[in-house]
Amino acid sequence: MTQAPRQYTALVTGGARGIGRAIVEELQASGVSVLAPPRRELDLAAVQSVESWLLSHRDEKVDILVNNAGTNVLNAVADIELATWEAMVQVNLGAVLRLVQTFAPGMVARGWGRILNLSSIFSLVTRERRAAYSMTKAALNALTRSAAVEYGPGGVLVNALAPGYVDTDLTRANNSPEALERIRGLIPLRRLASVAELARIAGFLVSEANSYLTGQVVVVDGGFTCL
Ligand SMILES: NC(=O)c1ccc[n+]([C@@H]2O[C@H](COP(=O)([O-])OP(=O)(O)OC[C@H]3O[C@@H](n4cnc5c(N)ncnc54)[C@H](OP(=O)(O)O)[C@@H]3O)[C@@H](O)[C@H]2O)c1
Repeated sequence: MTQAPRQYTALVTGGARGIGRAIVEELQASGVSVLAPPRRELDLAAVQSVESWLLSHRDEKVDILVNNAGTNVLNAVADIELATWEAMVQVNLGAVLRLVQTFAPGMVARGWGRILNLSSIFSLVTRERRAAYSMTKAALNALTRSAAVEYGPGGVLVNALAPGYVDTDLTRANNSPEALERIRGLIPLRRLASVAELARIAGFLVSEANSYLTGQVVVVDGGFTCL
């Protein structure tokens, strides 16, 4: 007798726009139930909001956790203010840690889970005024590796997806049209990635089809970091 396919539930942060929304659509298209709380329900920048949301949702069966939401406030090293730094650490790292701590044990108990953290090529290389962003994303890669080591024996695969330049609100907010034109010229594929291209790879990484890839930072940048 063939076994019925398992019904998975995913939690995706920042699922309202950009890469997150495309990941939500990709997962739904493959039959996964998706929880994507909007910011008014789960504000990752506010410790209290994160803790009260987790308290009321900790028993939720989350098989796939996609830590997609992120923030990038541009500043030179000399100009990073403590409050800005703390807010970026909270969204890009602290909230991710709390979500992993809350939902990974259930995945281990069920013997299957997938966690995907949205990192960035700026976790590996950098650019002027990306210091705080680069620091938080580099630490996110470290968290990814640690979680892969600790939860791997329980059947949980943990990876980071590191996009280069993707056509989203965040990219347009942080780069003028002229800067984007210059960037296109530096990418071997001569264009930004679409959110759908990122979502297809994310979909694979959190699927049953990915059975052995864990603890990795998967760079998807059209060849940008090869130069
Ligand atoms: N775009 C790129 O080229 C690029 C490249 C490398 C890495 N990334 C990473 O990929 C991820 C998604 O980027 P994106 O370009 O799709 O971003 P985006 O278009 O700016 O969307 C970000 C999403 O995160 C949510 N979010 C931000 N702060 C939040 C908070 N405090 N609480 C709850 N939700 C919050 C936003 O919610 P609202 O809708 O409420 O604002 C939005 O849905 C980020 O981690 C980013 O660092 C992006």
